[in-house]
Amino acid sequence: KQDFKIDLITSELVNKLLPIRAADSHKGSYGKLLLVAGSTGMTGAATLATQASLRIGAGLVTLGTPRSLNPILENKLTEAMTYPLGESKEGVLSRESVIEIKRLLNDRDVLAIGPGLTANDEISYILNHLLEKTDKPMVVDADGLNVISDLNILKGRGAPTILTPHPGELSRLINKSIEIIRDNPIEVAKNFARDYNVTLVLKGARTIIATPQGQIYINHTGNSGLATGGSGDVLTGLISGLLVQGIDEVSATIIGVYLHGLAADLAAEDLTEYSLLPSDIIDYLPQSLKAVR
Ligand code: APR
Ligand code: MG
Repeated sequence: KQDFKIDLITSELVNKLLPIRAADSHKGSYGKLLLVAGSTGMTGAATLATQASLRIGAGLVTLGTPRSLNPILENKLTEAMTYPLGESKEGVLSRESVIEIKRLLNDRDVLAIGPGLTANDEISYILNHLLEKTDKPMVVDADGLNVISDLNILKGRGAPTILTPHPGELSRLINKSIEIIRDNPIEVAKNFARDYNVTLVLKGARTIIATPQGQIYINHTGNSGLATGGSGDVLTGLISGLLVQGIDEVSATIIGVYLHGLAADLAAEDLTEYSLLPSDIIDYLPQSLKAVR
């Protein structure tokens, strides 16, 4: 007999959790997000995450990215600010850039880190330092997940941590085989979230959310059109863009995962699952928001 509750994410639940925007609000009402993403060959990951965070309603978004990529991202992104960070080699962050990231964070509400960063020792230093030494809510994805060196750092964090692995990334993180995760995804997700005090988004055709309190949510939106590199980067942008608006970490993941899949379902009706691109998820987000409101 299971000792925990499983909820299916419904349109009604998302409608209930998604706050109404006050008529007299201003950009400060919707938070300041710092995204750290991108490296040579992966500016697309940074672009997709940034644009998704803006499209879901974040107040002010800054993308910190390796210095030599800054001109490209300035060109791709109209509404976001960009900040050129120090590099170790061309197009990859240096460990010293953590000082600049922390300084930027003083004036930001949420940090999202990982999409397209590449995984090396410098990135590992940055990621572990930030997890340990900063008390802002963090969303960690992709290469950020691949470089977490000591899971116990997660337990001691004084602010919410959201991790968004696919089964391969979770397998590396907890040092268990993908088969074990595929066979018992709910059990594995539940235990990890509880043991390490994180909100875990275990991505897949049926994404599972596990909370530090042991609650499980299962999502049923989305389709095979999402199986294209970059879909996960869009999800990171959505979840961090919701979190920065002051929505709690569990609600932000529930809303983000549901709307991400629903936007893909609405897009596929027009474009087919074959032709769906990650940027289409962002373009169909307004329809997906309308469908739950
Ligand atoms: N049905 C429904 N949803 C799906 C399906 C499917 N058949 N396939 C994928 N998805 C969804 C997942 O639930 C998740 O939200 O698409 C997203 C895929 O995210 P990722 O696995 O992170 O893939 P990707 O976007 O390619 O990641 C980009 O980050 O994880 C690294 O190695 C990865 O470098 C790559 C980068
Ligand atoms: Mg990914």
